[in-house]
Amino acid sequence: MNLIKAVFRSAATAAAALALSLAAHANEPAAAAAKPDLKAGEAKAQQVCSSCHAVDGSRGVPTLPILQGQHAKYLASQLEAFKKGQRKGAQASVMAGKAATLSDADIRNVSAFFASKQAKPGSAKNSATVRLGEKIYRGGIAEKQVPACAGCHGPTGSGIPDQFPRLSGQHAEYTKSQLAAFQVGDRKNGNGAMMVTIAARLSTAEIEAVADYIAGLH
Ligand code: HEC
Ligand code: HEC
Repeated sequence: MNLIKAVFRSAATAAAALALSLAAHANEPAAAAAKPDLKAGEAKAQQVCSSCHAVDGSRGVPTLPILQGQHAKYLASQLEAFKKGQRKGAQASVMAGKAATLSDADIRNVSAFFASKQAKPGSAKNSATVRLGEKIYRGGIAEKQVPACAGCHGPTGSGIPDQFPRLSGQHAEYTKSQLAAFQVGDRKNGNGAMMVTIAARLSTAEIEAVADYIAGLH
């Protein structure tokens, strides 16, 4: 009995030690990874991205995402996904061509550059649906098992670095197009699977309402 306990205890200790060493290792590459070069990121953005996203990733064309202030790790993950052709659809194929020209260092640098900027707040445009949008964002839709968007993307839509993208202030047109892309399975890459289930439960009217509300969120 004691032996079993001892074995169990040592196994538990070993597991804890392993967890610690994994954690230590997890930190290592992050610390050792090359630091992003914001100047190089800005130069690359000017050269390759500015024609569509504006030089600083600010409020450009409504169908294109605002990149300013988006979390660097999320931006990098999406650039990788475009590069590998994992984000699908007509709009995504435009990006795939651009992402294909980027090296790992370019991705790290442009992502850090856009993340270092701060987007100007936007506004909701449709007063008739803003309450419905707010209700969905803050409370979800219980009868359809739609969770509150705020649960992951945060009460102000700022997201959580490394986990959930920022949504606040995003162009409604772009948000709508992405919820539709999740619905049809064009965005199943990475953590997109989480959104596929959620988007599938939303009607077009609900998407319109929540996307408009998000545009004014800050
Ligand atoms: C020819 C126009 C064009 C150029 C140039 C361009 N993009 Fe895009 N970008 C788009 C379009 C269109 C989308 C939306 C894609 C979709 O709907 O899936 C997009 C989406 C993105 C996204 C996804 C954002 C999100 O919130 O998920 C990122 C990141 C991005 N672009 C970064 C860049 C970077 C970095 C560059 C320069 C290296 C660049 N883009 C150059 C058109 C462009
Ligand atoms: C369980 C957590 C979770 C909940 C709840 C959630 N999301 Fe998301 N959402 C995510 C994750 C994770 C991503 C990033 C997916 C990826 O990496 O492709 C995301 C991405 C998105 C995007 C794409 C952003 C961009 O820049 O392209 C939109 C739009 C979005 N969510 C809207 C919503 C809305 C609207 C709701 C509420 C109806 C919601 N989300 C609820 C986790 C969640």
